[in-house]
Amino acid sequence: MAKQIRLNLIFHTSGRHDAGWKAFEDPSILVDDIDHQVGLAKRAEEALFDAIFLPDTPEVLNPNFLRKPRRGLDPTVLLAAIARETNHLGLISTQMTQIGYPYLVARSIATLHHVSKGRAGWNIVTSQDDEPFLALGLPIERLDRTERYVKASEFVEIVLAHWDSLPREAIVADKEGDVYIDKELTRPVKYEGKYLKSEGVLQLTGRYKGDRPVLFQAGISQQSRAFGAKYADALFTSQPDIEHDRKFYAEAKALAKGYGRNPDDLVVLPGLYTVVGESEADARKRKAEFDELMEATFLVNNLAKSLGIPADKLDLNKELPYSLFEEHPTDDDVISYRRENIGGVSRENKFTVKQLVHHNLTRGQRAVFGTPEQIADTIIEWRDSGVSDGFNVNIDVQPDGLDRFRDVISVLQDRGRFRKEYEHDNFRKNYGLPTAADN
Ligand SMILES: Cc1cc2nc3c(=O)[nH]c(=O)nc-3n(C[C@H](O)[C@H](O)[C@H](O)COP(=O)(O)O)c2cc1C
Repeated sequence: MAKQIRLNLIFHTSGRHDAGWKAFEDPSILVDDIDHQVGLAKRAEEALFDAIFLPDTPEVLNPNFLRKPRRGLDPTVLLAAIARETNHLGLISTQMTQIGYPYLVARSIATLHHVSKGRAGWNIVTSQDDEPFLALGLPIERLDRTERYVKASEFVEIVLAHWDSLPREAIVADKEGDVYIDKELTRPVKYEGKYLKSEGVLQLTGRYKGDRPVLFQAGISQQSRAFGAKYADALFTSQPDIEHDRKFYAEAKALAKGYGRNPDDLVVLPGLYTVVGESEADARKRKAEFDELMEATFLVNNLAKSLGIPADKLDLNKELPYSLFEEHPTDDDVISYRRENIGGVSRENKFTVKQLVHHNLTRGQRAVFGTPEQIADTIIEWRDSGVSDGFNVNIDVQPDGLDRFRDVISVLQDRGRFRKEYEHDNFRKNYGLPTAADN
């Protein structure tokens, strides 16, 4: 059988395009209207996506977020509501590792796992913004990247240990013996790391029919890659072209093997931004119309910041002055990576700064514009050339863009590359990952 393609929907409240919200008659619903969110999730399930992926960031006053609505509803609570209105869709919540308590995350994700009957996922993020520290009344902690991943590893180890601390068999429910939980069969956590510690037994098992939630890791750096290859079931990456994906894919699978894992048990899913039209020109026109709704100066400032160069040296109608990269050296490997990728794309296409910022609205993710057939062809080509196991799909503007993407799915189905109905009601199985039942 031809390789199946895994597709997650990134659950943007108005779509991935930063001006997408302007298409809504009443954009005020985008922050907290439950019917809007549940409606989107149901559409995603009708389209047969593997999962919905809920990104989450704590900042509200970040200039980017003042110009674009974000879903404000707590992702895990929202997914619990969605769980009761859907039957097959995987439900991936985002929870931080640099602040907060692993025990509480273990409990809430395990709860979602049971509420959804085995469909929970956890997007493990390692960002360390100041806002949550301030909101929680804690001193701001600034760890370097290596230490951030040490802390993240401790966080995950504690969550995993709690998920196994009350195994199902410990709930003996022995009426005659007057014993409900057999203490001997519990596996109390006793963990003390450099940053985090935890003791005790979780109130519930983190496994549903033997399987724990699906772990997701999103990041770009070397440290993130190593962390993901060790702990995650699936990686969410953001590569601008096929060659970077190929390299990332090979490295991630090799790292997983190095940790004694079967590389097939690590699903690699790059982000993909699609704009579907009746023709390629129609799709590009759709994007351009939304691009024009954005204020260019703001975008230029963002671009300059992400490349570590001064914004006042950029002219909207001229090419990026590439010499600025040498004039402002950086030892940050994410900035170097962006300079290589975004700078490379700009050079290759001889973009003006304005064209580049509009191009870069995809934030370095791969973008395809075209007919359903063109987009499906591209997805199949990438899947078959050993660069990904599927994609995290960004829809430009909701819900219309999602309806358009269903035509892409129809083409994939006709070519035998995407399910025509859900095979299982278990997220892990739908993903092709091994389950407890396989052991
Ligand atoms: C594709 C992708 C999705 C991410 N989603 C989130 C998110 O929803 N919330 C968040 O706080 N950080 C998110 N992050 C940030 C990462 O968790 C991480 O902090 C960031 O990539 C910097 O780590 P790195 O330098 O190791 O790559 C995301 C990163 C990537 C690449």
